[in-house]
Amino acid sequence: MARATMFFPPDFRWGTATAAYQVEGNNTNSDWWAWEQEDGHIRHNHKSGLACNWWDTAEQDLDEAAEMGTNAHRLSLEWSRIEPEPSLFDDAALDRYRQILQAMHDRGIEPMVTLHHFSNPLWLVAKGDFNSGIVVDYFQRYTAKVVAALGDLVPKWVTINEPMVYVFMRYLDGKFPAPSRPGWASGREAIGHLLRCHAAAYHTIKEQLPEAEVGVAKHTAVFQARPDSSKIAHWWAERISWLFNEMWLASMQDGRLRWPVGRGRVKGLAGSFDFVGLNYYTRHYVKFPPFGGLLSQEWDDGTIMSDGNCGEVYPTGIYQAIHWATKFNKPIFITENGLPDREDQLRPSFLLTHLREVWRAISFCFPVMGYYHWSLVDNFEWDRGWTQRFGLIEMDPETQERQWRSSGQLYSEICHSRSLTTQMAERYAPELLATMFPG
Ligand code: FCB
Repeated sequence: MARATMFFPPDFRWGTATAAYQVEGNNTNSDWWAWEQEDGHIRHNHKSGLACNWWDTAEQDLDEAAEMGTNAHRLSLEWSRIEPEPSLFDDAALDRYRQILQAMHDRGIEPMVTLHHFSNPLWLVAKGDFNSGIVVDYFQRYTAKVVAALGDLVPKWVTINEPMVYVFMRYLDGKFPAPSRPGWASGREAIGHLLRCHAAAYHTIKEQLPEAEVGVAKHTAVFQARPDSSKIAHWWAERISWLFNEMWLASMQDGRLRWPVGRGRVKGLAGSFDFVGLNYYTRHYVKFPPFGGLLSQEWDDGTIMSDGNCGEVYPTGIYQAIHWATKFNKPIFITENGLPDREDQLRPSFLLTHLREVWRAISFCFPVMGYYHWSLVDNFEWDRGWTQRFGLIEMDPETQERQWRSSGQLYSEICHSRSLTTQMAERYAPELLATMFPG
């Protein structure tokens, strides 16, 4: 049989991604901690508890990441640790983050740091957080403090993680900690404030670190009408896609707020990104008319679904997302991509097929500079608690024991060799040979 190798560029970033609340443990000052304490908010009333105990032992998982051959990791900072009371900064917390960041450098792992990944200090929530204009000043000062304390160790920054998912889950779906006012009007206001926070943080970072690369991690899904649907259903799917995928980036590009968020320009917003970060997971079929929900829950025969019917495995979508993102004329990073798959039945083939699409995009000279797999190790999955396992490394939250999944071995081979090969498919996902390596 013919053998083939798909090579990636030598400076490609091979990474994994985590978020502070999901891995650190004991983030008692965060709105998520308070939210978790009330029954009914988290599946099976699971608790984050020690999470992956990163606050004490992140270095151990970083050892694993280094052994895996990764050279990059995306992590976030917990604002509620750094500023436990308004304007009161905790130097010990900043020192601990310095240690973790230094530990990455010591292991040849380049940090990408996210400033806001779904969690808020409790005091900020009491002040109305993203429904109050004060949030912009607070976010700017938090950013300035962090950049002064840690900036020399951080070449890449993400200001806000998945702003549209955050607003949707919190204001409309009610699955994330409640805002002061739920609902669409309040969510639209929050998007405006999140954009202002982003712009303020972008300039704060660039003033102190002109060489730093700053962007957002934008969840990008494929939204489609079923092929046999009416024209209006296709039009509707495009509108949803525009609202969810494109509107935020379009505003960051030209600095203008648009309907339904608002009107006018935001100072400093135009051009406030150096790269596009894409978090890609799946494709959704959109329903029209949208009675009883926006998204269809019906799947075609033969569709491969991740654990708990969480989403279709749709590798072409990562290529489509990259292709679409080229319109912004910036470098592109895949800042998250992964699936819940406790038994690791799908993840090896998921890795090969999604990375093949990334390779295909690079072959068309689309500027994809790195890939950060979600996630290095099983972690606390927000409202889904411990029911979803995204790790390349399995982790038992009771005992804290870790064990590499087969997909961890495969990712390790990919990272070390910076390529995808026929032999990998033979060993980890032979069913792919005919389609991935015909010949
Ligand atoms: C993304 C989040 C990340 C994690 C993955 C599975 O939407 O950014 O924290 O929950 O999904």
